[in-house]
Amino acid sequence: MSASAAPTPVFDSSKVAVIFVLGGPGAGKGTQCANLVQDYGFCHLSAGDLLRAEQNREGSEYGAMIRNYIREGQIVPMEVTIKLLENAMRAALASAPAAADGWADGRGRFLIDGFPRKMDQAVKFDDEVCRSSLVLFFTTTEEEMLKRLLERGKTSGREDDNEESIKKRFRVYKEQTMPVIAHYSKQSKVATIDATATIEEVHEKAKDVVGKLLAGEVTRNVTV
Ligand code: C5P
Ligand code: MG
Repeated sequence: MSASAAPTPVFDSSKVAVIFVLGGPGAGKGTQCANLVQDYGFCHLSAGDLLRAEQNREGSEYGAMIRNYIREGQIVPMEVTIKLLENAMRAALASAPAAADGWADGRGRFLIDGFPRKMDQAVKFDDEVCRSSLVLFFTTTEEEMLKRLLERGKTSGREDDNEESIKKRFRVYKEQTMPVIAHYSKQSKVATIDATATIEEVHEKAKDVVGKLLAGEVTRNVTV
């Protein structure tokens, strides 16, 4: 094999559909993913949730490191996050018969929420884990996101739902995640959804775009 040969992804994108879900902190990614799971039987994997679970797992060699990165709003080194995602995908596919209703077309369906947050994660995942089909990009104002996060912070117990961490998360989002959106826009893979409206209104738009994708209708860059 020549040194320049492309690696083969672990999962074949003709058998496994991956939709990335991006947007600033507080844009409503998790909320909308939960709705789409109801609609289409996706397996929802939140990178942030997987990192928090690993942080709290007894005996994890990464626990302290993850806690620090999350509190500072920084992006955890991609090897850790990608391995957690790959393991979770493998486990979900292994238990697919239990989820057979949702996967009636026989194709594993994943909503990968809060990932890729940085260019290196995007490239490595597409090349080595599974080529993504679409990016759902939820967008709203910083003012709105700050309001939602402070409200969530009253009960979330998250160490990063405070004003200081939130400001850092906004900066990292602009500097590191926006280039990822631009990268996928160039590949015509981004569905941009205005997430300022009510949860139900945003849900209707997201449901429509994802429905079209699953029906095999070409979804180029669209804004709804
Ligand atoms: O998506 P969520 O808001 O749950 O992410 C919380 C934090 O987890 C991020 O601010 C970041 O520190 C970390 N994270 C990461 N890489 C990702 C997703 C989340 O480092 N792909
Ligand atoms: Mg979330």
